[in-house]
Amino acid sequence: MIVLDGRHCSDVLKADIARRALEVEARRGRAPHLAAVLVGDDGASRTYVEAKVKACKAVGFRSTLIQLPGTIAEEELLARVRALNEDRELDGFIVQLPLPTHINADRVIQAIDPRRDVDGFHPVNVGNMVLGLPGFLPATPSGICELLKFYRIGTAGRHCVVVGRSNIVGTPVSILLSRNADPGNCTVTLAHSRTKDLPSITRQADILVVAIGKPAFITADMVKEGAVVVDVGIHRLPDPAKRSGYRLVGDVDHAAVAPKCAAITPVPGGVGPMTITSLLLNTLKAAG
Ligand code: GUN
Repeated sequence: MIVLDGRHCSDVLKADIARRALEVEARRGRAPHLAAVLVGDDGASRTYVEAKVKACKAVGFRSTLIQLPGTIAEEELLARVRALNEDRELDGFIVQLPLPTHINADRVIQAIDPRRDVDGFHPVNVGNMVLGLPGFLPATPSGICELLKFYRIGTAGRHCVVVGRSNIVGTPVSILLSRNADPGNCTVTLAHSRTKDLPSITRQADILVVAIGKPAFITADMVKEGAVVVDVGIHRLPDPAKRSGYRLVGDVDHAAVAPKCAAITPVPGGVGPMTITSLLLNTLKAAG
């Protein structure tokens, strides 16, 4: 069984990103610059955003963390987004999701200039992805593709089952892996909460991508012997034995499933670092 080590893969890719960041800086007189907007005080979102900012520093990018109160009015957040669209010091920015429930996330995403949408969430970038046109690919799906490529996991002709149809992961990863590209050329099944007899579907997967948002949801009986399993979930479960008071688990019951797999991503240290690295790659691209 191969562990698909997202930290190692990220470190290799980041060395190249750092080199290219220096080239951008030499050519344009300033390093690539990413801004991240964090609304409210969700602990997990803060951790992710801080990891993104830290990753920028590690590759020589500039980064700006914009913290806004959870009580901010939607109009005010939209005004901040429009200001970021115009900020000549920036190359790209993200608005960390989820947003507080009184804010319409779709409206916020649609307010982002697609040329600065390094998360690849704007409908223009989603449309470009579907059509195979140039644009920003969403970070987690493209990170998964980079990880499969790095470990030379063949995808062409294989049956990929994606569990979860979110706009951020499930739906775009199903599109990327079915495209005529490498990685890609999979036969994709997109399973979701209304799928009947899910275990009978997941057991057909040569490649199983799980982004359902439920801790340890995929059990050993749901996985075929020799499958490649990509676990996108990350959950904090209370654990008094840990100094932090919690432990991280994915959407897959890792201990039970791993022995059956040809390859599997760990949690943490699998897809998470790849998401951040893809965001860096998009920012580099935005910086031209
Ligand atoms: N929330 C969970 N994943 C993501 C992501 O990739 N980008 C943003 N902006 N928010 C998220």
